Amino acid sequence: MASFAPSPADVADIGVTGMAVMGSNLARNFARNGFKVALHNRSVGKTEKVMDDHSADGEFYPSESMSDFVASLQKPRVAIIMVKAGKPTDAVIDELASLMEEGDIIVDAGNALFGDTRRREADLREKGLHFVGSGVSGGEEGALNGPSIMPGGTKQSYERLGPMLEKISAHVDGEPCCTHVGADGAGHFVKMVHNGIEYADMQVISEAYDLMSKALGKNAGEIGDVFAEWNKGDLESFLIEITAEVLHHTDVTSGKPFVDVILDRAAQKGTGAWTVQTALDLGVPVTGIAEATFARSVSGSTPQREAGLKVLPAEAQTLEIADEAQFIDDLQKALYAAKLVSYSQGFDEIAAGAEEFGWDIDLGAMARIWRGGCIIRARFLNRITEAYERDAKLPLLLSDEYFTTEIAKCIPAWRRVVAFAAASGYPVPVFASTLSYYDAVRSERLPAALVQAQRDYFGAHTYQRVDAEGTFHVEWSEDRRETKQD
Ligand code: 6PG
Repeated sequence: MASFAPSPADVADIGVTGMAVMGSNLARNFARNGFKVALHNRSVGKTEKVMDDHSADGEFYPSESMSDFVASLQKPRVAIIMVKAGKPTDAVIDELASLMEEGDIIVDAGNALFGDTRRREADLREKGLHFVGSGVSGGEEGALNGPSIMPGGTKQSYERLGPMLEKISAHVDGEPCCTHVGADGAGHFVKMVHNGIEYADMQVISEAYDLMSKALGKNAGEIGDVFAEWNKGDLESFLIEITAEVLHHTDVTSGKPFVDVILDRAAQKGTGAWTVQTALDLGVPVTGIAEATFARSVSGSTPQREAGLKVLPAEAQTLEIADEAQFIDDLQKALYAAKLVSYSQGFDEIAAGAEEFGWDIDLGAMARIWRGGCIIRARFLNRITEAYERDAKLPLLLSDEYFTTEIAKCIPAWRRVVAFAAASGYPVPVFASTLSYYDAVRSERLPAALVQAQRDYFGAHTYQRVDAEGTFHVEWSEDRRETKQD
């Protein structure tokens, strides 16, 4: 039996169903911002707990049943779902949809695959309901105090929903970290790429840490000092800040540096893999994100690592580091350059997704709403916004004048870091893959010409010539004459 009285009808501005930490924090954030918030959870105990612990945050209207929850919402109703992605989300959507009326809005604020969001949006549109897939970034803390919010769905739904989401979002320079991203699955698509970039950022930071640890022999605390210092410059960001904090943390059980007692296997819930899979489908090279995602897989490949550890020789060189300060400065520059490439690749994926799915996404606005609240919030995101303001159709973020100037300052250091790591036998998949991408994308001629020739040889896949229009094929197994294809 619930320990609260039934809520009145048509009272709440917005409702949240799913009272795990993210859902309850989001609900509390709305309440703290003056909204009347309806609450619901499949098991009423969690709703009661929120009421017991946090009713002082504002006006809550808890319900035990989904029908009471829906009835407590003002029309057009807005219900946010914050439950596990996949089947649980579908089940809640179905239940809500059966109780809602034309014009009502269902928001999925979890990390859903954008294709699922597109499907759900189409289904609900047929029933006259709005379905909004919204990215919400910032973890538990962000949900409570101001996340970065990336809602998709119709413009009409944003008119009702947008002002509330903007109010509870993080704010930077007085601007909300929330904007309408685009139709149907656009919000979840952008959130997916955000997470992919998050993977690349985290991995490349870890590679810098690894080199300081292994090549310089620095302890966790000393490396934490370096990151804290870096956080005062161009690299200033949430992830660099928390890295310094984590490295300074001492394990309470063993008294050792905390990072040293953690098993070196990184888990993943799947958004990085989605980013890479989608990029492959779209033909967009997101090499930094892909390598970061695979680096987690390598870390978790226990049988392979055990086998490799036993028998694979390093045959590495022991290179002397004459100037430690220079080495650290190189790492900082390499990190910045690799980061710029990862973001550039991520924005390419958003642009390609927008093209493919017909979304009108303002790329500069995406960088703007990532400046606060989210996991990849960083000082340099302003520069991305400015770049797209200079040219909204910029084909390559790195080709913007600011980024070419910045990256030019980093290149020698970046090359030194990758060469040092390769010669010394230290894995640096993101440092190295982003540098290779950089060199590829600025190359006048790539070895893809040879790949085309090979494809034509064994599969008659044809090729184009540098000196003539049309499509050609060589009769490799005959007299090797060239034929022009229709
Ligand atoms: C965020 C985070 C959040 C979550 C990721 C972590 O933006 O707030 O990205 O969505 O922490 O799902 O993903 P992994 O478990 O795959 O690292």
